[in-house]
Amino acid sequence: MEKRELLYTGKAKSVYATDDADHLVILFRNDTSAFDGKKVEQLDRKGMVNNKFNAFIMEKLAAAGIPVHQEKLLSDNESLVKRLTMIPVECVVRNFAAGSLVRRLGVEEGKELLPPTFELFLKNDALGDPMVNEYHVRSFGWATDEQLQRMKELSFKVNEVLKQLFDGGNMLLVDFKLEFGLFHGDIVLGDEFSPDGCRLWDKDTRKKLDKDRFRQGLGGVVEAYEEVGHRLGVKFD
Ligand SMILES: Nc1ncnc2c1ncn2[C@@H]1O[C@H](COP(=O)(O)OP(=O)(O)O)[C@@H](O)[C@H]1O
Ligand SMILES: [Mg+2]
Repeated sequence: MEKRELLYTGKAKSVYATDDADHLVILFRNDTSAFDGKKVEQLDRKGMVNNKFNAFIMEKLAAAGIPVHQEKLLSDNESLVKRLTMIPVECVVRNFAAGSLVRRLGVEEGKELLPPTFELFLKNDALGDPMVNEYHVRSFGWATDEQLQRMKELSFKVNEVLKQLFDGGNMLLVDFKLEFGLFHGDIVLGDEFSPDGCRLWDKDTRKKLDKDRFRQGLGGVVEAYEEVGHRLGVKFD
């Protein structure tokens, strides 16, 4: 496999073609952004930590029967993945209230959500990733009903697998965002699962161990991500 031209530079990752039409190389950079790209900083080691953390999580999900794009780690900062046609909708599962849900509905941060909720957001930075519903997804043709139901089913399955995994490290999986795409007609989990796209709290102290440390200027961002990894047994070097 050979890395070819740069296809896309996102806020945190760069995507490269390969000599094989079905595969891409994803480069995890140190760039860290929040508030739809309005706050951006370089955080030393973050690309490497997220790349290795994501590979570890994707492997656990694959072992649980979830179709994932991840093929293998190529280097500290690069992974080989299946090339998906991305569905431009983010799927969010919440187990506890935090972030935009707290602001939108005026509920208390940390309120347990039983059953967990499922939300959809249009992936569009210029519009601030607006919340949409299942009718929007179908009517605008972002996904068919069948694809949408599959994304929902897989999102809840990911939740069951990862709630348990993080519980083993004495952490609460508060919420997370997933992106799916199509690979030869099938829905496959793409993008990344890392502390950049989820909320994790220490179970006893409720210390934040995720990107809220960056959003809220709490410091120790990459140190917290590494701690999450160490609690799960991820090897960073
Ligand atoms: N397997 C894949 N195939 C094609 N595109 C992907 C795949 N996984 C992730 N992507 C896309 O690549 C980009 C990753 O870079 P990122 O920095 O997260 O970008 P963004 O700023 O758009 O969130 C995203 O747009 C994501 O949707
Ligand atoms: Mg992204």
